[in-house]
Amino acid sequence: MGRPLRIAIDGPAASGKSTLAQRLAAHLGYAYIDTGVMYRAVTWAALQRGIPVTDENALTRLAETLDLDILPPTVADGRPYTVLVESVDITWALRSPEVDAAVSQVSTYPGVRRALTQRQRQLGLRGRVVMVGRDIGTVVLPEADLKLYLDADLETRAWRRYRELQERGETVSFEEVLETMRQRDALDRGREVAPLRPAPDAIVLDTTAMDIEEVFQRVLALIEARCQETPHVAG
Ligand code: CDP
Repeated sequence: MGRPLRIAIDGPAASGKSTLAQRLAAHLGYAYIDTGVMYRAVTWAALQRGIPVTDENALTRLAETLDLDILPPTVADGRPYTVLVESVDITWALRSPEVDAAVSQVSTYPGVRRALTQRQRQLGLRGRVVMVGRDIGTVVLPEADLKLYLDADLETRAWRRYRELQERGETVSFEEVLETMRQRDALDRGREVAPLRPAPDAIVLDTTAMDIEEVFQRVLALIEARCQETPHVAG
């Protein structure tokens, strides 16, 4: 078996998916596609326009029509990409506690998911991608060559997110971060369409006690092992 051309990484918030994906993509020379950005951009635009997060029809229309661009970083401020909505740079605004609190509700709506999944699949099918989300291995790219599912304890993930928010100067308490994450987990796992869960053929990694380097090395070893597997010849 050759090197996996489509790598899917799923898992709950702050399980280490994005960091792993960025490092893997840089190492392999692949594109890094963070699908959460699309759900966040729709949520951000809805909050801006005063569309209630309960208005499924309006949110579906928004997801279908939103002028959204994800580009290589345009500013050297540590961002992994630049996100534009109608030419406005919303890269950091997407990470605000307000978007965090609303995004999982917006992501439950089948119409929103249909519109965004279609865009994501087109990008993923080009190959040489590391794609990150909640439903990549199960729905967006079920044919991915390598599927990873990262997980970690709720408390550990909440600490990671709390520290990230603090570093960016957001004023939010640990308890609020923990509660938002608990609610998002429940919505992401419990929704009817494309719930968060490992694909049957995903490799599950618990990162609670692992740092970024350990996770990265573990996954590189997995990829190496896949490359060395001799293809099964029938007959
Ligand atoms: O960075 P973090 O893991 O906190 O979140 P994200 O990956 O940016 O995703 C934000 C939210 O978008 C998730 O909590 C899901 O509700 C939704 N999402 C989804 O439903 N399906 C995806 N493929 C990606 C994100």
